[in-house]
Amino acid sequence: MHIVVTGGAGFIGANFVRRTVATRPDVRITVLDALTYAANEASLDEVRERIDFVKGSIADPAVVDEVVAGADAVVNFAADTHNDNSLSDPWPFVDTNIRGTAVLLDAVRRHDVRLHHISTDEVFGDLPLDAPERFTEDTPYRPSSPYSASKASSDHLVRAWVRSFDVRATISNCSNNYGPYQHVEKFIPRQITNILSGERPKLYGAGANVRDWIHVDDHNDAVWTILDRGEIGETYLIGADGERSNREVLRTLLEVMGRPADDFDVVPDRAGHDLRYAIDSSRLRRELGWQPTHADLDAGLRDTVEWYRRNRAWWEPGKAGVEAAYARRETAR
Ligand code: NAD
Ligand code: TYD
Repeated sequence: MHIVVTGGAGFIGANFVRRTVATRPDVRITVLDALTYAANEASLDEVRERIDFVKGSIADPAVVDEVVAGADAVVNFAADTHNDNSLSDPWPFVDTNIRGTAVLLDAVRRHDVRLHHISTDEVFGDLPLDAPERFTEDTPYRPSSPYSASKASSDHLVRAWVRSFDVRATISNCSNNYGPYQHVEKFIPRQITNILSGERPKLYGAGANVRDWIHVDDHNDAVWTILDRGEIGETYLIGADGERSNREVLRTLLEVMGRPADDFDVVPDRAGHDLRYAIDSSRLRRELGWQPTHADLDAGLRDTVEWYRRNRAWWEPGKAGVEAAYARRETAR
């Protein structure tokens, strides 16, 4: 089997490539990645000999056509992914997440190649705090930010190409991922690397917002489950029952890292900040037999802290620039 992994130098894509190399020696992998600020080629160092790497954008029809021709499947992780960035400049999100997905769809249609499109639970907007309801495959789309609206658009495009042109595609919407190789702009790595750099963690507002955390390996196992057994045209929600408030996650990180519980700064809240995400993944479990294996979030967070402690060379070069950008945005608000 020959798969094209777009966005394979980013957080989830690189973990997917590494895990596929380790567990499926018969799969040939071509990574297509534009190497934006979010990519880190070092995440692929250990598997570089085992993959083909193409630097290019999913929004470039010529590159995409060449890479997709002859593949058996495309897994589309490529996206602009940070909500905070989408608030200061939405245009890369429109170009990559919307236009890029359309370019990919045209290519898989032309070459009759299977597509799995990676999406997010943020397309559903948010849920009230402290309510029992969770997102399901039937929840209406109600995205809040330019990022989530661009991902929602991409999902609609995939469904339109399935219905109108019989493209063989599936979609998954996953909750917040954590684990190794995540960019330091995101919540968990930002706080861990702040502490490791002698800075205080930064909590938006009261920290009451809830995210539903899943280990990146559980997400990627679910993606393979859908590639193997998913029904064409269908959507599957991926989640591991990991709901925690941001304050609770931060408390765990401070404890694991031996810092006092109040050793963090409260910073101005994100505009339009979604309150709560929560996934009901019973369809994926019931129909395709997937189960998460990292059930213990505290243990997963401890391992993640350990990974950032041991891999300073991976994150340190980009850290100061990310914090400078956050500081500029905070003063502009
Ligand atoms: P990331 O920002 O860490 O990585 C994105 C990768 O895509 C980078 O390597 C970047 O260079 C590449 N890329 C960006 N624009 C591109 C373009 N035009 N052409 C080719 N490559 C391009 O993102 P991530 O956290 O690994 O997320 C991967 C996917 O999973 C995204 O589609 C995201 O919406 C989705 N998702 C993420 C989460 C999460 O918690 N991180 C949760 C659910 C879904
Ligand atoms: P983030 O990792 O940006 O993911 P998303 O916006 O896709 O959920 O943020 C996760 C949560 O953490 C979100 O509620 C915003 C909050 N947050 C902070 O409190 N402080 C921070 O420094 C960052 C980056 C996020």
